[in-house]
Order: sequence, then structure tokens, then C-alpha cells
Amino acid sequence: MTSLDHQPASALGDPAARTARRFERMRPFGGEPAPRVDAHGLPPGPRWPAWVQTVALLRFRHRFVPRMWRRYGDVFTLRIVPGGRPLVLFTRPEHAKEIFAGDPEYFHAGKGNGILGPIMGEHSLLLQDGSEHKRARALLMPAFNGHALRGYRSLVDEVADSQIGRWRSGEEFRSLDRMNALTLEVILRVVFGVTDERRLAALRPRVTRTVDISPVVLLGWGYPALQRVGTWRRTVENAYRLDELIYAEIRDRRAAADLHLRPDVLSRLILVGDEGDRLTDDELRDQLVTLLLAGHETTASALAWALHELGRDRAQLRRARQAASDGDDDHLEAVLKEAMRLHPVIPMVARTLMRPATIGGWDLPAGATVGPSILVAHARGDNHPEPERFDPGRFLGQSPPVNTWIPFGGGVRRCIGAGFSLMEGVAVLRRILSAYDVTALGTDVPKVRNITSVPRHGSRTRVD
Ligand code: HEM
Repeated sequence: MTSLDHQPASALGDPAARTARRFERMRPFGGEPAPRVDAHGLPPGPRWPAWVQTVALLRFRHRFVPRMWRRYGDVFTLRIVPGGRPLVLFTRPEHAKEIFAGDPEYFHAGKGNGILGPIMGEHSLLLQDGSEHKRARALLMPAFNGHALRGYRSLVDEVADSQIGRWRSGEEFRSLDRMNALTLEVILRVVFGVTDERRLAALRPRVTRTVDISPVVLLGWGYPALQRVGTWRRTVENAYRLDELIYAEIRDRRAAADLHLRPDVLSRLILVGDEGDRLTDDELRDQLVTLLLAGHETTASALAWALHELGRDRAQLRRARQAASDGDDDHLEAVLKEAMRLHPVIPMVARTLMRPATIGGWDLPAGATVGPSILVAHARGDNHPEPERFDPGRFLGQSPPVNTWIPFGGGVRRCIGAGFSLMEGVAVLRRILSAYDVTALGTDVPKVRNITSVPRHGSRTRVD
């Protein structure tokens, strides 16, 4: 029996009470409701029931969304649960620009992520909108600027060295699994700043379980009674244990005498802001879990795809290995960016309109959700000639036209970890390619896992 069983939150000690309160308060689809939608005059789209479209979007988006684009054109409307809400997807760069530039007071991004509330917490950067989002973003940004990134680099190198140093020539493995283990270690050491081996051992399984959230668990949160049974109960118990560890880490870190000298993200976040406007323990907890969820599998998937593409193209592999031994990080970054173009890790970004807006000439009602389709933007031949071809040269000495390469979204919500993931990805590729020849074993295709797209077969790889 856990301390969460059948007890009101007020009866629980700290941090158990905080965990329980979060599960009580943060209902999926909770918070300020989106306005009711007047659905007349929306762009065309399929007439299938909303649940069919939702399943297609969640499970088969790699085929479904491009098919809708071919069938209905550059702007189309899908209906999703709950209530058949319209999701209007845009595929042209000028439309992406309009959405990214939308006034954040009325283009809300946090709403669409509400389902992650019980796990991320109400302060999560991903869940907030308007002035609260602006404040949190301003406090978090310094931990992700160029200066801070340079400070993390040697830590990332250390993690990459110790993990990849254990690989053996001739080994075959799912590179997605190896990359997941590696990026998890980066989060724990570089973001959480944990160095004590006992604490790391306690955190690893909790964090792994937290990241592994199935849609069933997410949807079940709408029904509080479920939190006492089966997989939902285990999720709540795990959240409690993880919170215990995170709050202990925050408490100890606040007391650390060398806080100013510590290079990790948590230490920076504790110090950020003016007296009276610092991040509280609850805010720190929520942001750490957000960074964990947003920054772990995403980077791992991008790396797994990069290894897969290099592993089946000897000429590109030769060039990349040469770049790794020459210290040519620009080339390695181009490899990573091209892997993200060809295999977008996140398929789209979404903004819910809090008042009517005109986008791409369409007058859209309040309550509609709009977003650029990253999948289609990256696959359009007019954005990227020969879009099926893996060609890092697209990013060497040039950039694709603006808003045609948007793996990190854009505007005031653009991924705060974009620079971090590129820095991490380049460090990992450099380490692997300077030591190993890489061969992709068989073909691979994307599948949806949690919030990301990953290689279905895990990007099976041999290193020699
Ligand atoms: C390949 C790696 C990654 C990809 C493809 C990716 C993609 C994205 C996308 C598409 C968004 C939404 C942007 C929008 O709505 O316009 C986002 C937001 C976010 N990402 Fe990433 N991400 C990656 C890595 C990371 C990392 C490493 C971290 C942190 C360590 C991170 C933290 C976040 C956070 C906190 C947000 C919310 C920003 C906000 O709402 O203001 N991401 N990411």
C-alpha cells in the first residue's frame, strides 16, 4: 500500500501531498476551456467520425496526414476527440509564418498539451499560455542560451564517452535503445545535475517509467477512480516516488555551497531571476519533468534516424566519418538536421485560437486548433527538391528557405531545447563516427511512440 492510497491530499506529507494534489487538480483537457467552435466555412476535410480521425492521427499519421494533403490540398480540417473539435492543418511556409507570428495571448499552445498535466504539472512551460508562459520562458531561457550550452558540452562529451566506450566492434543492436539510454543519462547528469551513483540508480527506473506513458494511461486520467487500479495506480505511485527523489535533489542543491560553480541546468534554474521572482520548488519540479519528457526521446529518435541513414549510404557515411575525425561539427550538424527533416520527430505543432483569426486567407473561428504540419512541410518537393533523398548538403553553407524546415516549431513557443539537442546530437555522432563504421541492418519506417515518431524496428545497426 502506498501513502497515496485513499487519503485526501491534505493528510499527506510533503512531497506526497504535492503529487496527490497535482493528480487531483490537473485533469486532462482541464483549465480554461477553449471557446465553443462555430464550424461553418472551415477548410475541407474527411467526414469520417471524429474518433476514426483521431486514431488515424495518433497511430498512422505518417500515411494519413500526407494522404489528406494530397486529397484536400494545402489546408485541410480534421475532426478530433473530444467533441469532434476541428484541427486545421497548414502545409505552406507562408502559413506556418502566420501561425508562428500569431499573438500568444490568443494563439494558445498550452491547451493542446493539457493531457500531460498530471505528469508535467501546472507550471510546465509546455502547458502554460499568455503572461505565465512568458514569465516561465524568460526564467528558463538563460539555461539554454549559447553561453550555457558551451558549459554543458564537456558533461555531454563525458556521458557520450562512457556509454559509447562500452560498445564492441562487430556488435549489433537497436540504435534507438542505445540512444535512449544515452540521452537519459544526459538528462540526469546535465539537466538534473545528479552525479551521486546511488541517486542515479534510484532515478533511472523512475524516469524511464515516467517517459513511457501510453495513450491509454493518458486518456484514463480523465476518470479519477481509475487512479486506484492497474496501470494508472502504478503511474501515480511512480510519480510519487519520482517526486520524492526530485524534491530531495532540489532541497540539497539549494543548500550546495558551490551552486554558482555547478554547470547543470537545475543549478542554473535555482539561481535564475531576481530576488522575489525565483522559481519555487514546485516550479522547478514541473520544469525538470517537462525537460525530461520533451528532451529525452526526441533527441534519441533524431540520432537513431541519423545513424540509420548514414548506415545505408556509404558515401555519406564516409563524408561524415571524415568530418568526425576532422572536428568538422558543421557537417555533423547538417547530418542531424537532414535526419530530422526526412524523419520529423514531432509531426506538427498546434495553437488553439482564443478569438477568431484569418490564416492563409481562411477566416477561422475561436476554439479551432491550427498548426503547421511538420510532416508535410518537410516532404514537399517545392520546399525540398527530391524530398525522399537523404542529403545533408541541403544544410551545408546554406539553409533551406525560411519555415520549410521546422522540426522545432517556431515563434515564442519554438523548442527551448533546440540548441541543446543539436549540441548533444553532434557530440554523440562525433564520438560514434570517429570510432566506428556503421551499417544499417535492414530497412526501417516511422511509428508513433508516446509523443514522438521513432524507427519502428529501432534502427537496427552494426558497428565495426
Ligand atoms: C530532436 C530533438 C527535439 C525536437 C524535434 C523537439 C521538438 C519540439 C517542438 C516541435 C516543440 C513545440 C514548438 C512549438 O509549439 O512551436 C518543442 C517544444 C519544447 N521543447 Fe523540444 N524538441 C527537441 C528536443 C528538446 C530538448 C533537448 C529539450 C530540453 C532539454 C526540449 C524542451 C522543449 C520545451 C521545454 C518545449 C516547450 C517550449 C514552449 O512551449 O515555450 N526539447 N520541442
